[in-house]
Parts: sequence; C-alpha cells; structure tokens
Amino acid sequence: YMNYRVPRTRKEIFETLIKGLQRLEYRGYDSAGVAIDGNNDDVKERHIQLVKKRGKVKALDEELYKQDSMDLKVEFETHFGIAHTRWATHGVPSAVNSHPQRSDKGNEFVVIHNGIITNYKDLRKFLESKGYEFESETDTETIAKLIKYVFDNRETEDITFSTLVERVIQQLEGAFALVFKSIHYPGEAVATRRGSPLLIGVRSKYKLSTEQIPILYRTCTLENVKNICKTRMKRLDSSACLHAVGDKAVEFFFASDASAIIEHTNRVIFLEDDDIAAAADGKLSIHRVKRSASDDPSRAIQTLQMELQQIMKGNFSAFMQKEIFEQPESVFNTMRGRVNFETNTVLLGGLKDHLKEIRRCRRLIVIGCGTSYHAAVATRQVLEELTELPVMVELASDFLDRNTPVFRDDVCFFISQSGETADTLLALRYCKDRGALTVGITNTVGSSISRETDCGVHINAGPEVGVASTKAYTSQFISLVMFGLMMSEDRISLQNRRQEIIRGLRSLPDLVKSILPLSQVRTREADSVLTSESAVLQMCILYNEMPCRHMSLKIKEITYMHSEGILAGELKHGPLALIDKQMPVIMVIMKDPCFAKCQNALQQVTARQGRPIILCSKDDTESSKFAYKTIELPHTVDCLQGILSVIPLQLLSFHLAVLRGYDVDFPRNLAKSVTVE
Ligand code: F6R
Repeated sequence: YMNYRVPRTRKEIFETLIKGLQRLEYRGYDSAGVAIDGNNDDVKERHIQLVKKRGKVKALDEELYKQDSMDLKVEFETHFGIAHTRWATHGVPSAVNSHPQRSDKGNEFVVIHNGIITNYKDLRKFLESKGYEFESETDTETIAKLIKYVFDNRETEDITFSTLVERVIQQLEGAFALVFKSIHYPGEAVATRRGSPLLIGVRSKYKLSTEQIPILYRTCTLENVKNICKTRMKRLDSSACLHAVGDKAVEFFFASDASAIIEHTNRVIFLEDDDIAAAADGKLSIHRVKRSASDDPSRAIQTLQMELQQIMKGNFSAFMQKEIFEQPESVFNTMRGRVNFETNTVLLGGLKDHLKEIRRCRRLIVIGCGTSYHAAVATRQVLEELTELPVMVELASDFLDRNTPVFRDDVCFFISQSGETADTLLALRYCKDRGALTVGITNTVGSSISRETDCGVHINAGPEVGVASTKAYTSQFISLVMFGLMMSEDRISLQNRRQEIIRGLRSLPDLVKSILPLSQVRTREADSVLTSESAVLQMCILYNEMPCRHMSLKIKEITYMHSEGILAGELKHGPLALIDKQMPVIMVIMKDPCFAKCQNALQQVTARQGRPIILCSKDDTESSKFAYKTIELPHTVDCLQGILSVIPLQLLSFHLAVLRGYDVDFPRNLAKSVTVE
C-alpha cells in the first residue's frame, strides 16, 4: 500500500495492511508479515522494519502493537508498506520462512511473493557460491538475494529499481506475483507478475491523468542497460504514467485479489504476465521487456462491480455458511439476463460469437480441479445429451501429466472459481498452444483464466471467500447446463427436453430457498450421529453421484474425517466390506430410472446392520422406512436434482465441522486459490 501526499499515521497504515491481509487470508493463513518504514521524517533516510509471525493475521496484528520501536502516532505523508499472508510451499510455517523475505540483515531489499520459483535451487547455489547467506528454507528468499546481487554488481550508479526487477525476473522460472521495497529506492514500489495474479487499485479524489496506461516497451540486455537507465521513470514524459492530475494526492494498492482493496477503491488495473509496474512520486508506470501476448499497448483502469458487504460475514458464523445460504440468489444471478423463460431460450453473451465454431467441434473437453472438476462431472451427462457431442471431463493436473492429445477442432472449457488455479491455467495454455478454442467458466472478472481464454461465461455467483467452495459449485453447474441449452436451441428433437429443463431452472431459486431452513434442522440431527465417527461413506447414483462426491470433499476439507462418495452400483464390488452398524452411511435416493438399483443398495446396507441417513423425496415412504434419519428433498427435473441434493450435504458438512470444533473457514493445510502447481 502506497500513500502519496495523503497523510496517514502508522496505525492507519497498519490497519490498511492488516485489513487487506485479513480479506486475503483465505488464500493462506499459516504465517504473515509486514515491511514498513522506520520513523524518520525524511523519506530518503528511512530504514525498513520487518515484523513477521507464525499463525494467522490476527497474531501478526497483535505482534505489531507489541513493538516498542513503532510509534503508532507518527504521521507519514508518503509511505510504502508491504504485507503478506502465507500458505507454505517451501519450508514449514514459521516467522523466518514467512514473507517479506529480505536480501540481508540490513533489509536492503524486501520482497513478498505469491507463487513458486521452480529453479530456486540453482539460483540459491549460485548465490551461495557468491557469498550470500540464506536464513530461510523458502524459494522466495532467492529473489531477495538475487536482486541484491544484481544491485551489488550494477554497472552504473543510477540503475533504477524497475531495471533491477526486470533483470531479476529474467532469471526466474515458475510462477510469481512480486512486490519489492528497498532502502536504496525509498518511497518507490515495483511489482511484477508471471502466472500469479496481481492488480493495482488506485484512489484519488482528484482527476486521474489517464484511463489507459500506455505500456513502455524496451529491450533489456546487459549491454544496453545504460540506455535503459536513461529511460528511467523520473525522466519519462508524464503522459506515460498514471497519476492524480497536478501531482495531487493519490494512493496505490497492490494486491493478489480485489477483495483486499475493495473497501478503498473499485478502480483497478490488472497486470499481465511480465508487466513491471513502478510507483514513485505519486506516479505509476508500466513497462515490459517484450510485447505482451495480448499485444494490448495499454492497461485500462477498470471499475469493479464488487461491493464490500459481499465479502463480509454479516450475521453468519462463517463465510461457508453465508455462502451456502446465498445460493437462492447466486443461482438466480447466474441465470439473470441469460435465460428467457417466456421464449425458452438461453443466451450466453460471452459465447454467442463462437457458437458456430463450437457446434462444429470434434469434442468438448471440460477441465478443472477439485470442486470445479466436480461441477464438470456433474453436468457431463446433460451436456452430452444436449450438445450431442462427446464430452471428456479432465482433472487439470492429470490432463497435463498425460500429455493428452488436443486438436485444433477441440473446444476446451476451463472451470475455475478463482480463475487463477495454476493447474487449470497451465492446461489452458497447453490447449491454446495446440490451437483449440478455449472457453473460461469463472467467478472472477479479470482473472487470468477469464483473460486468457478466447471466450467465456462469468458465473456471477458473487465473491466466494469460504475455502470450501459451495455456491460457486451450483453456479458452475447451472452455467454448464445453460451452455447445453444454448447449443441445442435448433434441435427439434430436443425441444421438449429443453423446455422441461428451462422450467426446472425457473423454479430452482425458490426450491433452493425452501430446502435451506428444513435441511438445516435435519442435518443438525444427522450431524449429532456422525460427529464421533472418523469416516463417512456416501452413496448415490447417476445425477446424484457428484453431490455425494462434492460432500465427501467438503467433509475431508473441513472436518478432517475420511469420506468417500461411491456409486450405489459399486457397493457390492468392494465398499460393502466397510458396512456395519458403526459405519456412517449417507444415501441419496431419488425417484428416477435408477430408483430400483438404489433400493438394492439400501437393502444391502440394512442387511448388514448399516444405519443410513437418506436424502429422498417427501413421498418416498419406501426408502424412508429403512432410514436411520431422513432428509427430505423437493423434486425437480433429473439433471438439476444434483443442485437440490447438494445443499443439505453442504450444510451437513458445515455443521459436522462446527460440532467437531473446527474453524470452518480456515481448514488446515488448505488455501482458497491454489496458484502453484
Ligand atoms: C474445494 C475447493 C477446491 C477448488 C480447487 C479449484 O472446496 O475449493 O477443490 O475447487 O482448488 O479451484 P478453482 O475453482 O478456483 O479453480
């Protein structure tokens, strides 16, 4: 966070940094740290103070106020502070491994990093051979040492901060979003990214110099570094920079995610891979070594639609609970303006120009990870039915590991709530390189996946903060169903089916709403049965397979119990051996063509003294008479039933985690957005 000509006390600066971290805490919460300036009035004389702490951001917050040397009332007219919350990849969670990482004991350069540097071992070896001593086990420390090395070996005294960073990133392999601070460049910030998201928020009550920041291109080689220095930001024509007109007060916020800054500004610039953004003296400029893939010669300031209350918990005890309860609206918002219930038509604006090409394709490949992958599997059958195309559903990491053949006439969908998942993003680039048409289904406007795909759909579920994904799943599901409906608009043989599904979509928000209060009570009862167990088995069939697998993932994530979702037909082929009166079993049984098969499985369970909790329709007395507990579900069209059955299962997982005393929004070892491979 940088304030320029906006007087802020140290306390206010802390609050801005800490609040920003708390909003990003779902990305990682095993340790946190800040780097801010010492007390000196003169910007040039300030040293850098580092405070780092193992644990959640709250622990860092408390630690900050314990620091005797920090005068909280001291006011800074211009200041630049950085902060980070970590999800450990290299090195255990500890203060020394947390960020900011530093170049040396004098904190000459400090850096925060999101991502993974894959060649860090080679770089570390090289730097150690040059006498640089490492204190942490992290890949990030290599970056801090490397910039110092480049600085120590500079050919010219007036080398700029952004030139140093430019040289550093040329040596880095892997994924990163980085923000640097240095005592050699007081009051200056340099930020860059490759593969990990980074945006810059701008706030000023004065008019801004531009709405489009032109990109400065230059070739950076060791030979021409002197020329580069001549084109240093200070000497730039100010038309190439963003600033408040007349050099008036302005604040810049650098963040991995808009939720960190939305309470300060909704005006943001999304950086592209290899952009280097530098802020100093109230001016922000962006330069690149090479032209960008998009070839866009400028970066626009965009206005985000997000609102602060969307990322607040309100009256709920956890974000996950809030997001489960938001589903009547999120489901509605996904369809809003897209499904016309009068004419039985669906229009997805982001896909309409590519529809012909999609209709001609050889096959659809739908790719995602975790819950997003589940949404793809849950809709495969209806997609095959409506598009009459072969549909392959792939886990992004496995898809890449197999070097799966992809052709120019394939259409590849990338499903991702965050739009930043590294595995999915890499799969996207892999498919692009092979000439396939790429389609993004994401919840995050401006995310890497939504920007790098040829076209796409925003699921409009609203920000999802809970680490265990819930409302994004139902909205992804609906988005894929809507795509199927749009594809089948001119298929005469499918008209009745389409109308049935569209009618189902129309009543969905109300049905979801009707389920929530009832299932909340019932799932609480069921949870009291499950709470002392260590494993849960869920069973289902056909359209209900994915709700069960979705629940089993939620149970693992937030209750740390082993849990498995299986197809009822598979029970007798192995899992039946697990059944006795101890093993908790949850079954979803709907009156669909597989009802009889489910009844067989139910008999197999009860014959072995199993005590199943059954989700079934109200009028299903046949199933409920064998149930230990019953949770009633309203009925809808078969291919949408999975949305209704998933909601009690989400609640069940949530209550179970609460009963077991776990922090639902911060499951151990996990992070919301997995931007590393
Ligand atoms: C589970 C969960 C993860 C994500 C997965 C993909 O609750 O949230 O399994 O679904 O990491 O994330 P996105 O959808 O952001 O690509």
